[in-house]
Amino acid sequence: MKKYPKTEKYDTNWIEQNWMGPHPLWLLEDLCGHMDLRPGMKVLDMGCGKGITSVFLAKEYGVTVFANDLWISATDNLRRFTEAGVADNVFPIHAEAHALPYAEGFFDAAISIDSYQYYGASESYFPDVFSKLVKPGGQFGIVVPGLRDEYDKGYPETLKELWSPELFTFHSNNWWRTLWEKTGLCEIIACYDIDDPKAIWQPWADWCVEHFEKEFGDGGGGAEFDKNFLEADTCNDIALIALVAKKSQEK
Ligand SMILES: C[S@@+](CC[C@H](N)C(=O)[O-])C[C@H]1O[C@@H](n2cnc3c(N)ncnc32)[C@H](O)[C@@H]1O
Repeated sequence: MKKYPKTEKYDTNWIEQNWMGPHPLWLLEDLCGHMDLRPGMKVLDMGCGKGITSVFLAKEYGVTVFANDLWISATDNLRRFTEAGVADNVFPIHAEAHALPYAEGFFDAAISIDSYQYYGASESYFPDVFSKLVKPGGQFGIVVPGLRDEYDKGYPETLKELWSPELFTFHSNNWWRTLWEKTGLCEIIACYDIDDPKAIWQPWADWCVEHFEKEFGDGGGGAEFDKNFLEADTCNDIALIALVAKKSQEK
């Protein structure tokens, strides 16, 4: 598998105590290879979860981060940011994706790792909300779980038994590209399937088997879901999709 040298500097236990999906720092490091983040920039980390991506952005790129999440409280995240020594540059915010407290054009970049699919797979979210957060010429970068292709039923046959309605936000990279590109509000800089998606996803799936119920209190099969989902994917249709765009100057 590809190496992620920036991520290697971070303690694996800290990552595993705070991740909420397929290795967020590997996904972020891959994405940032296609972005131009500079010290002092203001960056939105949308759906940051427990904020390890926010810590990484502040430490690796010297940016100021607004660490926005819904399920995790700002107070919890402040404690983590203080422990990580970044509380002066990473600000925890508790806000829902359709009710954000930010001024239009405030950010140099808006990033989202394994979260945008929860609210952004509609026609309206990018033009009405996400695009407005960033200044003209600013950057967008997201990674979402998805599929290598589009299917008539919405899913490949191999995943039929495990499919549930919320998974219909899983799409191909071309579907995501078109969703943003057709608005005319941005130029697509990169849109691709990240290499070895199952190798990136597997450590999280293994962790879930042992820790999910204790951590997230789910008795409904959540612990085994990711492991079963990856195993069922015998035709390798599961993807982790990175999309990077630049906001048009005149918008
Ligand atoms: C799978 S977790 C990923 C968290 C983190 N990015 C990571 O990779 O560990 C998805 C995150 O998206 C956030 N999220 C989901 N729906 C949201 C919404 N409507 N508004 C804001 N955040 C939302 C949740 O709070 C959650 O922390």
